[in-house]
Amino acid sequence: MSTLWHGRFDDNPAEEMMAYTASIGFDIRLAPDDIACSRAHVRMLGRAGLLTDAEVTDVLVALHRTELELASGEFALAPGDEDIHTAIERRVTELAGSAGAKLHTGRSRNDQVATDLRLYAKRELAGIASDVIALQQVLLERALDAGDAYLPGYTHLQRAQPVLLAHHLLAHGWALARDVDRLVDARARLDVSPLGAGALAGSSLPLDPGATAAELGFAARFENSMDAVSDRDFVAESLFVLTMVAVHLSRLGEEIVFWTSDEANFAVLDDAYATGSSMLPQKKNPDVAELVRAKAGRLIGNLTGLLATLKGLPLAYNRDLQEDKEPLFDTVDQVRLGVRAMTGLMTSIAFSTEAMAASADVPTAAATDLAEHLVVGGMPFREAHVVIADLVRRSLDGEASLVELVTADARLGPTAAELLAPGVAVTRRTTPGGAGPEPVVAQIQRFRSRLATDRARLAS
Ligand code: ARG
Repeated sequence: MSTLWHGRFDDNPAEEMMAYTASIGFDIRLAPDDIACSRAHVRMLGRAGLLTDAEVTDVLVALHRTELELASGEFALAPGDEDIHTAIERRVTELAGSAGAKLHTGRSRNDQVATDLRLYAKRELAGIASDVIALQQVLLERALDAGDAYLPGYTHLQRAQPVLLAHHLLAHGWALARDVDRLVDARARLDVSPLGAGALAGSSLPLDPGATAAELGFAARFENSMDAVSDRDFVAESLFVLTMVAVHLSRLGEEIVFWTSDEANFAVLDDAYATGSSMLPQKKNPDVAELVRAKAGRLIGNLTGLLATLKGLPLAYNRDLQEDKEPLFDTVDQVRLGVRAMTGLMTSIAFSTEAMAASADVPTAAATDLAEHLVVGGMPFREAHVVIADLVRRSLDGEASLVELVTADARLGPTAAELLAPGVAVTRRTTPGGAGPEPVVAQIQRFRSRLATDRARLAS
């Protein structure tokens, strides 16, 4: 078996050693980035006079051919191909001969893999940010369709105060807006090229890291070669930002599980986004919503696992760092699939606004409005709270309905009792950012313009 490093060794690597240490099984997905990285590197080597123009051309042609083979599935792995960097260099050398053998001049897999992974992360974070924006757009559209529909807002999973359905949907939308912000921000911070750092210390050859950084579309080159090859902050940060998206999806998912339950009956899933039971013929299950709830746990594991890998690692490169890729790939895949599935689910779910209203229109949901009615009349809130709590307790004890007790109470009377009429409470949430129709109109405007701003940020 021939490896990149066999010159130093008398014996061949053991099969078990290769099986355990090889990363080709998963880092093959870095192929497009590795090719891009090699193109920039070889052109730079040409400008530095380390390869002739003809050699540069030969390597570029071989890289192109290798790229096509990888894309079409024709690419054949050799036994010594321990990772994608080795595999591509081996193939380029087969195709371009001695020019190919010059490709790795002034370069180490340590700076190469860090460069590849940053290119990958840049692309994926941007892609996921636009997927998240598509989900936000659906939440906005559903909020617009929802009009004045309202449902109970909960604290402690007990009905607290009625809220517009639009308000509830946009609450999830704003959480996702922070995710988009974090994705864009993390992407900007990782936009630094490590190429040219070599194994850890740079090179004696006249390399130009600034030029390769620019050619690869990075905003900057590394400042310190040791930091460049050992920094995986960008993976940890990407994992956190993506896991936060997953956690937000899990909270929306939990909402959907509850809304579609027989107990709430607030919504019905579209057939395309529901699953059946193998035994119970009547079932229509919210498996997508349950899986986004569950997968957040796995992704939290990816994040904490990587942080544990990084903790206490000495500078500079250690093979431990190879363990950065599987968690990142898994998290990227799962977040992308989850966002897209939830986008479809939220597009097609049918809201049962009558059931929502019926559930929200329990008189106790307006208890705070009664207390605030007394406050407007001059009573201190703490005292008003006691007065209304007493009426609620008496109605729960069966003395009379809350409406009757309020009507009969000299401090409240029939005008206050009108606050308990169905649909009234939600209209009284009038403060900025509040859950009633008036502020929600303004909120929708602000949400819409935030989406436009974020789209523009992503496009630039
Ligand atoms: N497959 C390795 C990784 O993912 C590439 C770097 C290997 N470097 C080394 N010194 N063995 O980290």
